[in-house]
Amino acid sequence: MKKKLILSFLVVFSLILSACSSNSSSTGGKEESKGKLDIFSWWTGAGEEDGLKALIALFEEKYPDIPIENAAVAGGAGTNAKAVLASRMQGNDPPATFQVHGGSELNDSWVAADKMENLNELYKEEGWNDKFPKELIDLVSKDGNIYSVPVNIHRSNVLWYNKKIFDENGLKAPTTFTEFFYVADALKAKGITPLALGDKEPWTATHLFETILLGVLGPEDYKKIWTGDIALDDVKVMEAAEVFKKMLTYVNEDHSSRNWQDASQLVGNGEAAMNVMGDWAKGYFVNDLKLVVNEDFGYIPTPETAGDFMVITDTFGLPKGLKNGDDVKKFLGVLGSVEGQDAFNPLKGSIPARIDSDVSKYDQYGKDTIEDFKTANLTPSLAHGSAAPEGFVTKVNQAVNIFVTQGDVKQFIGSLKSAGSELK
Ligand code: BGC
Repeated sequence: MKKKLILSFLVVFSLILSACSSNSSSTGGKEESKGKLDIFSWWTGAGEEDGLKALIALFEEKYPDIPIENAAVAGGAGTNAKAVLASRMQGNDPPATFQVHGGSELNDSWVAADKMENLNELYKEEGWNDKFPKELIDLVSKDGNIYSVPVNIHRSNVLWYNKKIFDENGLKAPTTFTEFFYVADALKAKGITPLALGDKEPWTATHLFETILLGVLGPEDYKKIWTGDIALDDVKVMEAAEVFKKMLTYVNEDHSSRNWQDASQLVGNGEAAMNVMGDWAKGYFVNDLKLVVNEDFGYIPTPETAGDFMVITDTFGLPKGLKNGDDVKKFLGVLGSVEGQDAFNPLKGSIPARIDSDVSKYDQYGKDTIEDFKTANLTPSLAHGSAAPEGFVTKVNQAVNIFVTQGDVKQFIGSLKSAGSELK
């Protein structure tokens, strides 16, 4: 009897113990992340996921003993991932490393909250200080310290177009707003949707708007908006809003039920003629729709932004408080290497962040973009978190979302102006 009692006590005790330990591994990130590297991003679509998988495969080849997990959360531009990340960070359960845009998103959120390790030593050890363009290192630095490693450079101000539609209708890709509206009218007259939009996630409309702001204001004044040197109700911002309003009259009717991939698909399939999207769309065209650059689709800077390059850089850093920080550094080492960047970027649609990558690995779009980046005026993307703090971007997304349905320029400008209190 006594023996039985002791035995059942032992069983119950071991059950409690195992419950405790499984609990701590599912909720207590630090326990769990001792061994496994969970790589957090929002890359789940064609092109983006292909690039990520290629990078992970390269890491696994180099470090077969370090278990790695793809912890991506779906949703364009981090629509859902950013919220999941915020709650993990607040709960002191950071991923081993996570996707974060260089600029305000990294610096004003995680670095300012003292959540990131400084990577100055890693940059020295890897010899990276002269391997990334200075502008990029600046975007991932605060107060002279470096906090993340750029894996790529995306361009936001790209207008993609269906070549067949343009050729068959004897049209040329528009370089100015006047040309854009001329082309759009010609297409509309033929019953072809001129511009594809998928603003189920509102950032895509903000993305379109930022390229219009750049086109109307030019790079210097565009940058001044985010520093507060040009007011959000400036006459030029209003002018951009008017252009935006007009452009929206040429989009597909079902825009609010589509995401960026569905909108790109319209162009790829020949159901719409153009769309404005970052060059992850190229990753999607090529990897999902199996289209060929310069045969099936063409590309050109969005109207009036030739010579300007709206920069987006996806970067990864080292959160504070991890037990496996050395393993994370090994992952960052691969991500920041020529080999890593050249495995990832040709699939992703972006160009390498490093200046010494192997250009022959890139298609014509990549080659052109690598060249453009060297001489272009670089401007930070608003929709993708580089230009301004998250709080501001969220409010702009809301304002844009209302504007798309209501088209009230005055109200829109008023909302932008009041969002301005979030600009630091
Ligand atoms: C990211 C890209 C990503 C895109 C769509 C952007 O914010 O920088 O890497 O492909 O969102 O999800």
